[in-house]
Order: sequence, then structure tokens, then C-alpha cells
Amino acid sequence: MKVIAVNGSPRKKWNTGTLLKNALEGAESKGAETELIHIYDLNYKGCISCFQCKLKNGKNYGRCSMSDDLTPVLERIRQADALIMGSPIYVGAVTGEMRSFIERLVFPNFVYNEGAPALFFRSRVFPKKSSIFPKRIKTAFIYTMGMDNARMKELGWDKHLKSINELVLERILGQSESLFVTDTYQFDDYSKYVSGAFDIEKKLKIRKELFPEDCRKAYELGARFASCVTDK
Ligand SMILES: Cc1cc2nc3c(=O)[nH]c(=O)nc-3n(C[C@H](O)[C@H](O)[C@H](O)COP(=O)(O)O)c2cc1C
Repeated sequence: MKVIAVNGSPRKKWNTGTLLKNALEGAESKGAETELIHIYDLNYKGCISCFQCKLKNGKNYGRCSMSDDLTPVLERIRQADALIMGSPIYVGAVTGEMRSFIERLVFPNFVYNEGAPALFFRSRVFPKKSSIFPKRIKTAFIYTMGMDNARMKELGWDKHLKSINELVLERILGQSESLFVTDTYQFDDYSKYVSGAFDIEKKLKIRKELFPEDCRKAYELGARFASCVTDK
């Protein structure tokens, strides 16, 4: 049983990377083999709209025809039992590299069947026939962001992110869940940077008291995923 985590942050050992590491440690505690992929190490682009993945009788039908560093990663994900993605929020969305990764992961496995596009954003119950991913796997998204939880909710960003990514992942790959980690510690030393907008004492308190709790939630998510796969 294999659990793959994909880190969409350029910083390998900061908030997102740490949470993903915890998630994989949770999966390992239940006997899973794990792999952490840092996509900023890879050379690749997002979908180029060549539609080779949808060409009738095409040799790349159902697979991304682009050949770059993401190609073997996408193949390994086809073999995995669970996929946990993590990304910081950059200007209101997941990072550009994570977005490009999602395009390449999801689009080749999505079939334009009659009726499918109309259902895309309307219902969580999708016809399985609109996905040609070879099996159903468990998926999760861990988001990290500088804003606090109240502001995230006020802006509706949690709902927005869920409505896009969770919905698409559930449709194409399998059951999906989200973990939102807010008010993250952003700088190694706040005094070195222009950062008057932040209450640094509050940030420090959250770092010491709440972040470990978020890491525990990530650990439990990984353990739960690995257990579900084992119990199948
Ligand atoms: C380019 C950039 C844009 C950002 N935009 C936002 C944003 O729109 N909303 C937010 O809450 N935090 C924003 N942040 C803060 C990061 O989301 C936050 O610090 C995150 O936890 C960083 O993840 P990391 O520690 O794994 O790199 C931004 C950070 C950067 C570098």
C-alpha cells in the first residue's frame, strides 16, 4: 500500500512541507510505503491543450502526452493507493506549480461524456464514467495560509477551495478531504522584514500552540488514509 504526498510549496521544510511530512509519518505508522515529492524540484509545465489524452484511438488516450519531469510522477500516482497534496495559498489560490500539476493529473483522466460538463460544478455525485482513472484512491488537500481562520471564513476561501479542488478530485480520483491551516508563521525572524501588519506575539503563540495541533491532524489524516486502504 503506497501513499504519495505532493508538496506545492517552494520551501521544503516550512509549513506545508512539515504538515505533509506528518501526514506521511501517520501513514507509515499504519504500515504504508510513502513518498514525498517536492514539485518545485521538477521541470514541467501545465496542460498545453493538445488534447492527445482525448484523441479517439490515440496512443496517449487517458494519459498526458507531455514528456517532462512530471511524467514519471503521474505514472507513480496511477499505482498509488492515496494521494495527499499540500500547497500554500499564493494570492488567493494554490501555487502556480500546484495548479499546473493538478491540470496534468486531472484533465487526461476526465472524459467529455454527454452530460458530464453540465454536472461539473453542480453536484458532488458524479457519474463514474466521466473518470477513466484506473481505480478509486483516497485524496486530500492541505492548504496553508497567512490569514487567520476568521478572515478565511469571512472571505469564503475555504468554501471556494473545497468547491473547486475537492469536487474535481472526488470526481476524477476518489473520495477527497481538505485541511485548512491558517495564520502560519511566514518568516524565520519577523524583525528582519517589513511586517507591521502582523501581531508577531500572536503569530508566535499560534506557532507554538496551534501548529502542533495542525500537525497532529495531518498525522491522523495520513494514518486514517493508510488504515482505510488496508481495510479495503
Ligand atoms: C507569493 C505569496 C503570496 C501569498 N499570498 C497569500 C494570500 O493570498 N493569502 C494568505 O493568507 N497568505 C498568503 N501568503 C502566505 C503563505 O500562504 C503562507 O505563509 C504559507 O503558509 C506559506 O507556506 P510554506 O511555509 O509552506 O512556504 C503568500 C505568500 C507568498 C510568498
